[in-house]
Amino acid sequence: MPSLNDIRSTYLDFFQRNGHRVVESSPLVPRNDPTLMFANSGMVQFKNLFTGVETRDYTRATTAQKCVRAGGKHNDLDNVGYTARHHTFFEMLGNFSFGDYFKESAIPFAWELLTKDFDIDPKRLLVTVYHTDDEAADLWKKVAGLGDDRIIRIATDDNFWRMGPTGPCGPCTEIFYDHGDSIWGGPPGSADEDGDRYIEIWNNVFMQNEQMPDGTLRKLDMQSIDTGMGLERIGALLQGKHDNYDTDLMRSLIEASAHATSNDPDGPGKVHHRVIADHLRSTSFLIADGVMPSNEGRGYVLRRIMRRAMRHAHMLGAQDPVMHRLVPALVRQMGAAYPELGRAQAMIEETLKAEETKFRTTLDRGLRLLDDELAKIPEGAALPGEAAFKLYDTFGFPLDLTQDALRERGLTVDTAGFDAAMAEQKAKARAAWSGTGETKDAAIWFDLAEEHGATEFLGYDTETAEGQVLALVQKGAAVPVAKQGDEVQIVVNQSPFYAESGGQVGDAGIIRTATGEARVTDVKKSANVFIHVATVTMGEIAKGQGAELVVDHARRAAIQGNHSATHLLNEALRGVLGDHVAQRGSLNAPDRMRFDFSHQKALSADEIAKVEAEVNHYIRQNGAVTTRLMSPDDARGLGAQALFGEKYGEEVRVVSMGALPGSKKGTDGQTYSIELCGGTHVARLGEIGLFVLLSDSASSAGVRRVEALTGQAALDHLNAQGARLAEIAGVLKAPANEVVERVKALADERKALANEVAQLRRELAMGGGAKGGPEAKEIGGVKFIAQAVSGVSGKDLPALVDALKGTVGSGAVLVVADTGGKAAVAAGVTADLTAKVSAVDLVRAAAEALGGKGGGGRPDMAQAGGADPAKAPEAIAAAEAVLAAL
Ligand code: ALA
Repeated sequence: MPSLNDIRSTYLDFFQRNGHRVVESSPLVPRNDPTLMFANSGMVQFKNLFTGVETRDYTRATTAQKCVRAGGKHNDLDNVGYTARHHTFFEMLGNFSFGDYFKESAIPFAWELLTKDFDIDPKRLLVTVYHTDDEAADLWKKVAGLGDDRIIRIATDDNFWRMGPTGPCGPCTEIFYDHGDSIWGGPPGSADEDGDRYIEIWNNVFMQNEQMPDGTLRKLDMQSIDTGMGLERIGALLQGKHDNYDTDLMRSLIEASAHATSNDPDGPGKVHHRVIADHLRSTSFLIADGVMPSNEGRGYVLRRIMRRAMRHAHMLGAQDPVMHRLVPALVRQMGAAYPELGRAQAMIEETLKAEETKFRTTLDRGLRLLDDELAKIPEGAALPGEAAFKLYDTFGFPLDLTQDALRERGLTVDTAGFDAAMAEQKAKARAAWSGTGETKDAAIWFDLAEEHGATEFLGYDTETAEGQVLALVQKGAAVPVAKQGDEVQIVVNQSPFYAESGGQVGDAGIIRTATGEARVTDVKKSANVFIHVATVTMGEIAKGQGAELVVDHARRAAIQGNHSATHLLNEALRGVLGDHVAQRGSLNAPDRMRFDFSHQKALSADEIAKVEAEVNHYIRQNGAVTTRLMSPDDARGLGAQALFGEKYGEEVRVVSMGALPGSKKGTDGQTYSIELCGGTHVARLGEIGLFVLLSDSASSAGVRRVEALTGQAALDHLNAQGARLAEIAGVLKAPANEVVERVKALADERKALANEVAQLRRELAMGGGAKGGPEAKEIGGVKFIAQAVSGVSGKDLPALVDALKGTVGSGAVLVVADTGGKAAVAAGVTADLTAKVSAVDLVRAAAEALGGKGGGGRPDMAQAGGADPAKAPEAIAAAEAVLAAL
């Protein structure tokens, strides 16, 4: 008996053998479709190849595509567990031709694979064709030898496949398997077709048209093929089962559930195991593709599926979280075909565990409330909408979880009442918001949020995506169209653009529609609506259009490099300066980063060098940056750094990077940096390239600010410094590595020359040397030399006085200097005479004559200043008078 893994391989191998490229499944979150919540068939990733908008280097492809049908138009959630063939997650096998082969080959391929490779009894097979498609009917006759009784013509849309309200489409032929008359049911198109006897196993679509937005059908230039076969269905058939949940793969998951809950897989809890097995697949694959539980959009669909599974685990009597324990069984089954599952295993387990732990605290109480409410209403009546809303609002019960719980008792919910209660709560929120003093301008964003929900951010995983233009706003008012040259704020349902927050600046890039293009220069966020600030550069952009959103990659990469480096810097500062360092603010722009943190002192050169070296060490370590979602408490338990005073929701993103020495990479407690962060980051630290810490300054009391550069900007900075060094070397005419010695030598030389100049000046002032100097006079029994000089400064005078003292041998000296408009005077008395006369007295008398006052020093040397250098003779006379009076 072939396993589901065997069947998948057989399918892909068959088409590979027949010239098809085996293409990987696209992620569950479609990047190329603005309206689709999740990939729900194989052709989604090839949409633009059918219409000819895009071409690749192959024209035949085959895939096993991950599909989720839960939320949006195709929603099978409510039926899962209770029926044989409903899944929220399934795999679609498909073969595709893009203008290569058409019906003439698709039909023989299908017949050969089914009857030869899969060895299905041809007599059990029958087909439907679109009622006008004689060509397909003839091919079935010719290729498979089917009679008219087994080629059923269907006139409805059942045999005209459309991917959605617009897009490629065409007539199709569906292949059915007849399980025989022991099972009730009629052939397709008959009144009993809903029975289980005839099961559709494969749909072959002949893509030849495009459904246009105006409702018309355009004929495509080329004819293509798109087929889809549910792996679970063909698997059940080939394994001789009637129920998809009895296939080997699903069965192993059911048994894992039974084992984890100590239950009989086929006992009264059977439905619960089926729900758990299915939901384990959808939740795990969604998380692996980057969807995280939230209260909006895709994240809310994920949360609904998770919580629904958790209620079923609870029904099985599980006391502790169960879902995360089943992940290894899933990875064993599907990890080889989908390696992303193994890569994300830790994150899947953690996310499931965190969600289940949290939900458990309200699940019991909610279920009790449900019982109480049911006791209050007449038997068989619908649960009042208010009660369902309370379960939703207070206990975190998504509406479908309540409906699912009631289904077991044959009861329903008054959904109109639920909607009314929800509307009332929104009105209250609006009233409360109006009171917060937000400007009137912001009201428009609140209204848009209410009408369309929050903008879904896709930019953690992709930098290009399609979105739908929900609103265009100019000067605070909604407009239907923005034309070339207009400045406009664009709101879309989903966007890869990051909206400014947490210090990371908004992205820039391009928004393009069928009729025009706009350049986005910034993205802000208000009421969870992303506001793309843009200028229309070509044509026009209209509300309601599908749009291609392309983030400026180089700019985003530079921003991300800075943001990841900020986390490393935060940690390095704590390591080097101490645990008191806490982030106080940051800016991550494309060309620079800034980081404010609590610290009292300026950083020393040594500290700066250490921080820089540590950050660069982790950059070179090139570890992966991992992101997980958990409750704020769990995150703090991990030691995550959080911004002081910041409000966090019930879930936080936790960004980890860097492995501490001697640890296994990523092991808990061994991670270098763990921070709560909603920003985008590099995938591996090596992408940062290089880190240069530029400056350190005081930002406010007790807060320092550092600025730094990474990547190209850091390199440019270092290159500029290198160029400056080369320039200096050029000026010095010395090799760069000798520049420091040369500059030192120059500095020494300069000092020596300065000394020499001073000396020469003194000598010049004294008349060119000792010879020819002034004559000594004898006054009051003391030899006295006095000299008036110019061109020297006050500080040169002591040396001049000393020189004169040397000349006189024993006596007193006075030097009066013109220092450039002002006067300075110094007196000296040789040591043998200080008892007789003090230099201080001489200088004071001289200073007074110069229009100065005071003067000070020692008995052997004193100095003073004066106002009028022209009075030098009077100053000398005053000093002589002091001596004469001795
Ligand atoms: N795209 C086709 C389907 O989903 C094959 O049925």
